[in-house]
Amino acid sequence: MSLPFKTLNDVQYAGKRVLVRADLNSSLDPKTKAILDDSRIIASLTTLKELAKSKVVVMAHQGRPGDEDFTSLEKHTEVLKKNGIKASFVNDIFGQKAKDAIKQVKVGEVLVLQNTRYFEGEMKTGTPEEMAKEPIVQELYPLFDLFVNDAFGAAHRAQPSIVGFTTVLPSVAGRLVEKEIRTLTAATATGKHPWTLVLGGAKVEDKVQTLQKLLATGRVDNALLGGLVGTLFLVAQGSIPKEYASSIKGYESSLTIAKQLLDKYPKVIGLPVDAAVEKDGKRVECKLDQTKGAPLLDIGPLTTDKFAKTITQSAVVFANGPMGYFEKAPFAVGTEKVLDAIVKCKGVTIVGGGHVGAVAQMKGVAGKVTHISTGGGATINFLTGKKLELVAALEAAAKRMK
Ligand code: 3PG
Repeated sequence: MSLPFKTLNDVQYAGKRVLVRADLNSSLDPKTKAILDDSRIIASLTTLKELAKSKVVVMAHQGRPGDEDFTSLEKHTEVLKKNGIKASFVNDIFGQKAKDAIKQVKVGEVLVLQNTRYFEGEMKTGTPEEMAKEPIVQELYPLFDLFVNDAFGAAHRAQPSIVGFTTVLPSVAGRLVEKEIRTLTAATATGKHPWTLVLGGAKVEDKVQTLQKLLATGRVDNALLGGLVGTLFLVAQGSIPKEYASSIKGYESSLTIAKQLLDKYPKVIGLPVDAAVEKDGKRVECKLDQTKGAPLLDIGPLTTDKFAKTITQSAVVFANGPMGYFEKAPFAVGTEKVLDAIVKCKGVTIVGGGHVGAVAQMKGVAGKVTHISTGGGATINFLTGKKLELVAALEAAAKRMK
C-alpha cells in the first residue's frame, strides 16, 4: 500500500537534530497520578530507537487543561529510560531553558520537553499555516533539521504541535503513524458485516459528534454504548433522570444530538438495560430504575450478555472507551466481559484508545485481537472516512518536499 506522506525511509536523519511529536498521553491513576498503562509510550519506542543516530527532542501532551490527568511528562520520561532510551526531561517547552537544553542534545540522546498543553495556544486548532504562527512553532522550528510526527493518538487534532511544524520543516511520519494507517486501512477494507462499534468512556462531546458522522456513513450495524456516553444516551432516551448526565461538558448540545441519533437509528443504537452502582464501597447490580440516584459506574450483567451476543456474531468490531469506571476494580467487570467477547469474535477486531487498551494489556488479551490501536478519537475519526489532520498536513508537506 502506498502512503500519501513521506516516512523515515525518505529522509536522511543521521547526525540531524530531529523534533518528534509523539502521543504519550496515558491513563493515570486518579489518586496517585501514576501511569496505569504505558502502552502508548512503548509504542513510541520504535521511532525513537530508529533515530539512535540523531539528536532527538520529543514533544507530547498529557491530559487537557483542567482535567485531573493534566500533568507533567516527567514520569513518561522515566518509562522511556526504563526501556533503553537515553532520555532526559526539561521542565520547559519553548523558553530559554528548553532552547539551551535542545542545543545540548547529543547524538543518541532524547530530550523530552514539558507537556505541550501547558502552553495555552496549543489547544487552538486551525490550518497548518495558521498553527505555524503560534510561538510554540516559531520559537522551536529554527533549532531543528527535521520534524517527525508519530502522534497517531492525536492525529485528529489540528493543533500547533501536530500540524504547524509541517509547513516550516521537512516533515515525515514516524513508524507508529505509518503502522496505524497501514493496519487500519487494511482492517477496515473488508467490507464485511455485521459491523459493530462498542463506544464508552468519557470525552462525551467529541464522541457524540464522531458517532454522528460514523452512523451517517451507513457502515455501522450496531453501536453499543456504555460509560458516560451510554449514560448520556440513557438520559436522551428518558430511561434515567437528566441529573446523571447534566454535569457532562457540552451536555445540552450532546443531548440534542443523542436524541436525534436515537430517532434516526433506533435499530442500530444499543443501550445499557441495567447498571452497577457503589453501595457501602461494594458493587451492586440493579435495573436502571433502581439506582436511587447513585452514579452508574458500570454496565450490569443483562447488558453485558446482550452486548457480548452482538459482538461475538459480528464480522468487524471496533471498541473504544471503557464501559465503566474501570480504574476501580469492581467496576472493570463490564469492560472486561466486553473484551472477552471481542476476543471470542472470529471477525476483525480493533481495540482503540488508551483505556480499553489498558484493560486489554492488564488482562493479557492484547495479542488476541486483530489490532490494538493507540488511537481513540483518532481511530474513530479515521473510520468516518475523513482525512486525519495529521495525515493531511504531512501530505501537503510531502508535496512541498518534492
Ligand atoms: C487521545 O487520548 O485521544 C489523544 O491523546 C488526544 O487527546 P485529546 O482528546 O485530549 O486531544
